[in-house]
Amino acid sequence: MNIQDLLRENIKNLTPYSSARDEFQGEASIYLDANENSFGSPLETAFNRYPDPLQLELKKKLTTIKGVPAQNIFIGNGSDEAIDILFRAFCRPGIDNVVTVPPTYGMYEVSANINDVEIRKVNLLPNYQLNLEGIAEAIDKNTKLIFICSPNNPTGNSINREDIETILANFHGIVVIDEAYINFSRQKTFIQELTEYSNLVVLQTMSKAWGLAALRVGMAYACEEIIEIFNKVKPPYNINRASQELALKALDNIDQVNQWIRETVAERNKLAKSLTEITIVEQVYPSDANFLLVKIKYADYLYNFLVDKGIIVRNRSKVTLCESCLRITVGTPDENKILINAIKEFVI
Ligand SMILES: Cc1ncc(COP(=O)(O)O)c(C=O)c1O
Repeated sequence: MNIQDLLRENIKNLTPYSSARDEFQGEASIYLDANENSFGSPLETAFNRYPDPLQLELKKKLTTIKGVPAQNIFIGNGSDEAIDILFRAFCRPGIDNVVTVPPTYGMYEVSANINDVEIRKVNLLPNYQLNLEGIAEAIDKNTKLIFICSPNNPTGNSINREDIETILANFHGIVVIDEAYINFSRQKTFIQELTEYSNLVVLQTMSKAWGLAALRVGMAYACEEIIEIFNKVKPPYNINRASQELALKALDNIDQVNQWIRETVAERNKLAKSLTEITIVEQVYPSDANFLLVKIKYADYLYNFLVDKGIIVRNRSKVTLCESCLRITVGTPDENKILINAIKEFVI
């Protein structure tokens, strides 16, 4: 498979912006090349210099944790940036199309619409697994990307690995596997398969298990050729220095994060059990993520009742295949207890 054939012509021919830090990379005593404030910052920490455009320290650390070489890593301002770059690099507005498998993460569709790219929706089956035949029918020569979220948001389940492998092996475009919730899953990540599939892009994020949603740090793992395309299209300094430094520091605290993951999974199971025992709850779907999709009677009324009590869950009751469903993030043990008691108080 030739990645260059998938690329938009203007991106193929693009001369990327060359920043001051691209043009001089060594150590110097006086920097007068980037029109920064030479005096400093009005803060305790000096932020007056532009950050590393390629976040090499952070990538080095990710390499030791993930076992993926730095040249196979792109870091974005959240994984949402990686999603947007995929559209801008590969999809010709008004000509190309992408496949999504609803119900799924909403940003694929929003990014498609922003970039004026047709979106072909092939709903998941009632068991929330892929409709492989439907996907095969939806694809044509202008289909550039397929988005598969696993574990899937908002359903919480992992997508069957063999089905994803079937798509990876047969689709002549890019398969994006969004693993935002992979840390909570019993399933293995796909990042070890990068050498096997040149059309694979795996998205992960520091916004979920790593607890850094406010810093906006997301990763795309892919073959070197795709990572070079990301780097060509991205804004020069897309990850600010504070985020780079704090993310690097956080990666030293992997034991804490693993502890939280274990606690979250234990709480998820407890919460699922407690919810199942409530009479208005019709179904708690199996989850590999840090949230539960719950089919519940009077979902809209209950949602508003919880809002009035200061408890905010996500109302998904209008979403295809999620009718009458609320999506509930697993909280701390105390938060989960308060939630359960509040739902028990609800009377229609
Ligand atoms: C499946 C999925 N992918 C990506 C994201 C966005 O992640 P980030 O914060 O890295 O942009 C989310 C956020 O909710 C998500 O649910």
